[in-house]
Amino acid sequence: MNFRTSRRALVAATLGCSLAFASLAPLATANAAAAADGPSIRVVGGTDANRSTTGWFRQFITVTSGGPSTCGATALTNRWAVTAAHCVATPDGKTKIGKGKSYLLVNPKTRGTGKRFYLDKAIVHPSYKPNSRLQLADVALLKTSKSMGGGKLTLNTSRTSPTLGQAAQVYGFGQTVSGDYGSKPTVLQRGDVEDLAGPTGTVCGSYGSDFQVAKEICAGLPTGGTDACQGDSGGPLVSAVDGRNRLVGIVSSGTGCALAQYPGIYTRVSTYSNWIEAKVFGKFAVTSPCASPCARKKGQSSTITVRNRTTSKGSFDVSTNSKYLRVSPTWGKVKGKKSKTINVKVKTSLKRCVVVKVSSTDTPTKAFKIATNGKRC
Ligand code: ARG
Repeated sequence: MNFRTSRRALVAATLGCSLAFASLAPLATANAAAAADGPSIRVVGGTDANRSTTGWFRQFITVTSGGPSTCGATALTNRWAVTAAHCVATPDGKTKIGKGKSYLLVNPKTRGTGKRFYLDKAIVHPSYKPNSRLQLADVALLKTSKSMGGGKLTLNTSRTSPTLGQAAQVYGFGQTVSGDYGSKPTVLQRGDVEDLAGPTGTVCGSYGSDFQVAKEICAGLPTGGTDACQGDSGGPLVSAVDGRNRLVGIVSSGTGCALAQYPGIYTRVSTYSNWIEAKVFGKFAVTSPCASPCARKKGQSSTITVRNRTTSKGSFDVSTNSKYLRVSPTWGKVKGKKSKTINVKVKTSLKRCVVVKVSSTDTPTKAFKIATNGKRC
């Protein structure tokens, strides 16, 4: 046993929040010893969230052999949401998939209400170990069998954000009083916190080396008082990156809730964004600096970049419906984490609206329009 890694779990266990088995909040806890002696604070220091700006929030009811429990999740597309791995791979086994089992609720007006979207798939990050003391790589993806509609949030991919002291908001239906399983808010709560370690800081309260900045974000308030708590796991930590709200963290673990010396620990989304995007959007990111339709004259060119988001090799193939373009290369192989640039040159002085299609391994085919010599597409 390793002292460094055991400490966080030990302190956590003392306070009733095991990190190794990061407690989910059971749904049926009517008889739980509800010590409702805490101050009348909300989501541990939160306020009611604005429902119109949090349309991407999903309540995740995860059903395992141990029964249902509640987590948070964030919608990335109509069919995909991201949550914590420990909400999916629990000591009671994996979340149950299919009709009548685990489900997502789209931005529920009040806790537990709204239309249920059952799951097709639940993918846990391959590095996540359900029985580890530190909940590293605490990220999982949920795919619903039907389109959920509703809001979506963009992932933060910037490794240098959020910065030290940057404001962030955590959302959830979790406990409003630490340790009190009966303290459930009716409406979604928002906790205003800040990044307490930044992208490279190694100190997070009193967690010592149990806090791993490359994989985790440390967020709370220097004096405590506002934090995520049991039942908030899997939910979003949101912050502005380049002026736009992004999903920067996922509620993962913590010792107690809202303690000054023990801030909330979140999965660092930018560390896992390539893995998430590969599952949700495809193995390759296929992009062009010139927006489609891209206007080009004879002799001018444009580029398309194929970036392999994964660590394994893949290939691409380019096709065009026009003899008026010169594409180079027309196919290729790309090693893990590498990119290749495809050059597309206009050979004609005619006005044409032509299409270049890029198909690549485990990625939906992407089409780019090129408008030659002033043609409108
Ligand atoms: N593990 C908890 C859950 O499953 C979340 C803990 C977050 N704790 C904290 N102090 N931020 O709901």
